[in-house]
Amino acid sequence: MNNDKDEIKMSFQSIRDMDLKDKRVLLRADLNVPARRGKVTDTTRIDRLKPTIDFLRDAGARILILSHFGRPEGEQNPEMSLAFLTPTLEERWGCDIRFSPDCIGPKAEAVIAKMGEGDVTLLENVRFYKEEKQNTPEFVSKLAALGDVFINDAFSAAHRAHASTEGLAHVLPAAAGLLMEQELNALDAALEHPQKPVAAIVGGSKISTKLGVLNNIVQKVDYLILGGAMANTFLYANGTDVGSSLCETNMKEEALKISETAKKHGCEIVLPIDSIVVNELKLNAPSETVDSQAIPDDKMAIDVGPKSIAYVENILEKSKTLLWNGPMGVFELKPFDTGTNALAHKAAEQTKAGKLVSIAGGGDTVAALENAEVCQDFTYISTAGGAFLEWLKGETLPGVEALYTAKKAA
Ligand code: 3PG
Repeated sequence: MNNDKDEIKMSFQSIRDMDLKDKRVLLRADLNVPARRGKVTDTTRIDRLKPTIDFLRDAGARILILSHFGRPEGEQNPEMSLAFLTPTLEERWGCDIRFSPDCIGPKAEAVIAKMGEGDVTLLENVRFYKEEKQNTPEFVSKLAALGDVFINDAFSAAHRAHASTEGLAHVLPAAAGLLMEQELNALDAALEHPQKPVAAIVGGSKISTKLGVLNNIVQKVDYLILGGAMANTFLYANGTDVGSSLCETNMKEEALKISETAKKHGCEIVLPIDSIVVNELKLNAPSETVDSQAIPDDKMAIDVGPKSIAYVENILEKSKTLLWNGPMGVFELKPFDTGTNALAHKAAEQTKAGKLVSIAGGGDTVAALENAEVCQDFTYISTAGGAFLEWLKGETLPGVEALYTAKKAA
């Protein structure tokens, strides 16, 4: 796996470099969007694809959208058909969307044959074929037969080495879409070539799910600010009694190793100084603020306290770059979103003042920042969940790597 992102970046092709007039463009998008009862509940991923759709339509391309939805595991599962998306795509992108009931073969060819310049067709869920995940050369060829060029705009699915995310880049001239480019530039600015000092806020419940992320980050940032239950595991590893707080006692050695690596690389791990504690995890539970070194036996930490907030605010004032992944407390239960909100507001304020580059993404981070109503004030919010975390681990993503080494358009 090539970790020298500088070197590979040199050969990266953008859609701006391609002549796309009348070309059949296979566009890998990530339309794995939140939905309930056949209705899209969050259009963020759809909206963020619009610039690429507009660009391709203006360039006179015939656009064939490839995407997955859910994990149908190679079954033709009508509940995971992409057909329900067409009205939302039409509304958000302001153009007609045709639908092909298959992503390969004669049915797709028949729909494509009727397309003109600037037309857009959504092809059925690529994961209805088990060969998508297996990335077989035969399936890649069947997909490739429908298009002249491949554009990957699905950064959030680029950690999967599937036919439509990775395989196609090896057989067709390939380039990154505008969203993919934005995501890669933002992550580069946060972790590879950041303005220093760099702070990272990492929250969430388990360090066991973020070991790789923490190990990589402490080697790159000046401050690692830990929140959520994962901070309890570090407090516990340092010999602090964390009461009945959520804590992974079996991760003690790992936490100590990460602390050791951080020390070696001059990274300060910032743990809560004070904590908001409750007896029971529920909305508006009676709470008190205690020293994080003196959490009572029958209480659990649920948010960071005012002294911790002030300490981190001070770090944010002197930092030039912030990377944010995961909430500081149980933000879903008010008022235990206080710590997350206060720090989110501070980051937004510093960003608006032009003093901080703030980049967030992964898992429930976006929901936490939406709850704090600061998303529009951050420098960049990634559309990716798992792929964002893979990138934070320092891994080169297969879908991205394939683009770097892909054939160039003539
Ligand atoms: C996501 O929603 O994170 C991506 O679409 C990837 O989905 P997957 O985890 O099912 O591959």
